[in-house]
Amino acid sequence: MNTLPVLPSRTARPGYFITFEGGEGVGKSTQIQLLKEKLIELGKHVVTTREPGGTPAAEAIRAVLLGNQYQDLSDRAEAMLFAAARADVVANVVDPALAAGSVVLADRYFDSSVAYQGYARNLGAAEVKALSLWATRGLIPDLTVFLDLDPTVGMARVDQPDRLESLAMEFHIKVRNAFLDIANNEPERFVVVDASQSPAAISEQIYAAIKSRLSL
Ligand code: TYD
Repeated sequence: MNTLPVLPSRTARPGYFITFEGGEGVGKSTQIQLLKEKLIELGKHVVTTREPGGTPAAEAIRAVLLGNQYQDLSDRAEAMLFAAARADVVANVVDPALAAGSVVLADRYFDSSVAYQGYARNLGAAEVKALSLWATRGLIPDLTVFLDLDPTVGMARVDQPDRLESLAMEFHIKVRNAFLDIANNEPERFVVVDASQSPAAISEQIYAAIKSRLSL
């Protein structure tokens, strides 16, 4: 009987892979910038990515995923396009940076797919995660920061909503609950930070968690 191929296991890498997750308007990009500055002061080489995007092909996929002209995009096509964009940025940007010993700070990674497509779109958390693991040859973050915020507060910060941001508040509430569930299931990988605090306070908590959990 044929057996399914097992995902190639990832060996220890010289770099660190830190991902940032959360709903809309929680301040991920501000926090990534603040952490990047601190790490550069420590002499680290830092690479940042934002999903979907980061390579020419992933940017083209982004235009399909977020463009308001593709309102009829099917849920499964959406899930596969996020995974395809992720596969490309991991192969071309993240993997080489980690191999070179850089710290990679990613604005969203597979937990976004699990929360948005797996939970909120009801496609199945395990299936969506498996798709991403296949796409990335099993790349799991060393640490994931979840910025937790009431979606009514986050959505009020969004001024030009894209295709996903235009979805009903009910969807965004599902996304938040999904992230809380995912984080709860993997406490050793996740740091959950209350994103209603000041940017400086949030940044300090993230930095403290990174110092205590990673030997950076
Ligand atoms: P973006 O404008 O980059 O938003 P943000 O600043 O909130 O990160 O848009 C990314 C959108 O795509 C956001 O609504 C979350 C969604 N998304 C998914 O649904 N699944 C995914 O796997 C990823 C990476 C993003």
